[in-house]
This record gives sequence, structure tokens and C-alpha cells, in this order.
Amino acid sequence: MQRSVRLKSFELVARDINDVDVELLHALSISVRWPHRPKDWDLLRRAGHGIVAVDGIGRVFGSAMWFPHGDNFATIGLVITTPRAQAQGGGRWLMEQVLEQCGDRNLALNATHPAYPLYISLGFTSEAIDYMRQGQVPQTLPPMPALDGELNDLPSDRLGDITALDARAFGTNRARLLALLSDDASIATLSRGGEVVGYSMCREFGRGHVIGPIVARSDQDAVHLTAVHLKKLAGRFARVDTRERDGVFAEFLQQSSLGVAETVTTMSKGRRFLNRESNGPWVYGLASHALS
Ligand SMILES: CC(C)(COP(=O)(O)OP(=O)(O)OC[C@H]1O[C@@H](n2cnc3c(N)ncnc32)[C@H](O)[C@@H]1OP(=O)(O)O)[C@@H](O)C(=O)NCCC(=O)NCCS
Repeated sequence: MQRSVRLKSFELVARDINDVDVELLHALSISVRWPHRPKDWDLLRRAGHGIVAVDGIGRVFGSAMWFPHGDNFATIGLVITTPRAQAQGGGRWLMEQVLEQCGDRNLALNATHPAYPLYISLGFTSEAIDYMRQGQVPQTLPPMPALDGELNDLPSDRLGDITALDARAFGTNRARLLALLSDDASIATLSRGGEVVGYSMCREFGRGHVIGPIVARSDQDAVHLTAVHLKKLAGRFARVDTRERDGVFAEFLQQSSLGVAETVTTMSKGRRFLNRESNGPWVYGLASHALS
């Protein structure tokens, strides 16, 4: 008898990401060693749109999502093809459909190393490196600069206090996303002279907690807006995604045992995404790779 067999190739069809069981999406992200839990997929599906590549018996081989922020901007993420199906055109096919759905919106995404050539070939350009920092939070945090202002908890019904600040830092109003994230997040604000000058969110994600978004006017402010959450996570796993390569904030994260686990490249298509105003608020910590 023959010792090998060539199986018939199968066809994948695109379906709406909401039409499949979340456990299939979870299995897909596990196949590429991503930490998303079913709950994380649920949140992402509430936040955006997407497609999956499904075979004739309902198995999911790939995904791609996009998240509109206002009418003329969107971020792209969760672009995955399962290892068995990689390097056969599936990633490009998924991306082409997502780009069509995004229409003429300006776009941003955070590219992993394997996806970078695909995005370059689709017309994206590089803007910055993003550092995924994570680890077990120590019992005692490193020394911090003096606190300039007052830290407070923000109840989720007071999101209006931070949306304008966030829009200045992010470049687009993303009030709807902040409202979704705030459902399961603790939120801290930093105020000076009665004005909110920074905020941070902390929520469960993947292996532990993610601190982000972190919006602040300076490294010093960002340190305090991060430490306020880290203090409650001693001994637990935490993650911060930041574009700060060095400086007081990056050093603070490093000394807090949040080492760089991976880097991704922030890319855009259309108008430039990252535009820092001097002395203005800035995104020190990302909401997530997919949400930017
Ligand atoms: C990145 C990823 C989605 C690409 O999916 P894919 O199905 O392999 O993509 P495609 O087969 O359509 O290939 C797209 C491009 O990637 C490159 N590429 C894919 N596989 C490659 C390989 N084995 N070696 C070199 N380049 C490769 C090629 O440039 C290809 O371009 P081409 O169409 O001109 O040949 C997939 O590798 C993946 O899921 N990786 C893990 C998760 C991840 O990092 N996702 C990206 C998040 S930003």
C-alpha cells in the first residue's frame, strides 16, 4: 500500500466574525500563541467588525478585524491565519476584504514581524516601534518622581471627563471604545489645578492585566498613572504596550519587572497616525495592539 496520500485541497469562505462560536476564535489565537481569552474576543467583537475564513465543516482558519473610530479613521487587528494555512495567500485575502470594508478611512495597525512585509505590500508605512512589556509585578515598586497633582478613581459614568483629553492624545474621538473598555476597567485620573491632565485604565486581559490606555503629558505623570494600578497587582502578571523606547517612563517599567517581550511596528495608510503636540497629552500606553 502507498505510504503517502495527497488530500484534496479545501476551500475557505469568508464569514462575518459574529457568526462563529467564540471558542473557535480562541482556538485560532492559541494556534499562533496569542494570549486572548474568549472574553477578550467577545470585547473585540463588540468593539469592531471582522471576518473569518471558514472551511466546509465550519472550522476557522483565519481572521481579520477593523475598529472604526469616527467616520474617517479605523484601526486593524486580529489578522491571523492558523499555522497550517499560512503562506498560501490567506492573510492577503483576509486583509484585502478588510481594506474594502474600511473604504476610504485613514488606517493604523501594529504589525508583528511576520506580517510586516504583507502590510508594506498593501501600502502601509512605518511610524514607530511599539514595545510589549510584561511580567510579574514586584511587591515593592521602584522609586518614583514626585507626584505633581492629585490621583483619583474615575467612576465609569464620568467618562466625559477624559474623552476630550483622550481625543487630543489619540488624534480621533474614540468615546465609544472608551465606554466599552470602561465596563470592566478601573480608571484613574491625574488632576492639576482642577483640570484632568491624564488618565489610565486597567483591565483583565490574556494572562493577567493590561494597563492601557495611559494618556499623560509627561513621563513623570505616566509613571504615577501606571503605578496606581501596579500597586494593586503585586505578584500578578501585568502588561503595558508603549512606544516609549527610553526615558523615565520606560525605565520605570523596566525596573518594575515589565521587560520587553516583543516589538511590533505601528504603521499607517492615509494620513499620518502619530502626531505628538509639544506639551500636549500623549498616548503612553496602548489600549491593545488591535485598538492602538
Ligand atoms: C502574518 C500572517 C497573518 C500572514 O498570513 P499568511 O496567510 O501566511 O499570509 P499570505 O500567505 O497571504 O502571505 C502574505 C505575505 O506574507 C509574506 N509571507 C508569508 N509567508 C511567508 C513565508 N513563509 N516566508 C516569507 N514570507 C512570507 C509574503 O510577503 C506574502 O506576500 P506575497 O503574497 O507577495 O507572497 C500569519 O503569518 C499569522 O497569522 N501570523 C501569526 C499572527 C500574526 O503575527 N498576525 C499579524 C498581526 S499584525
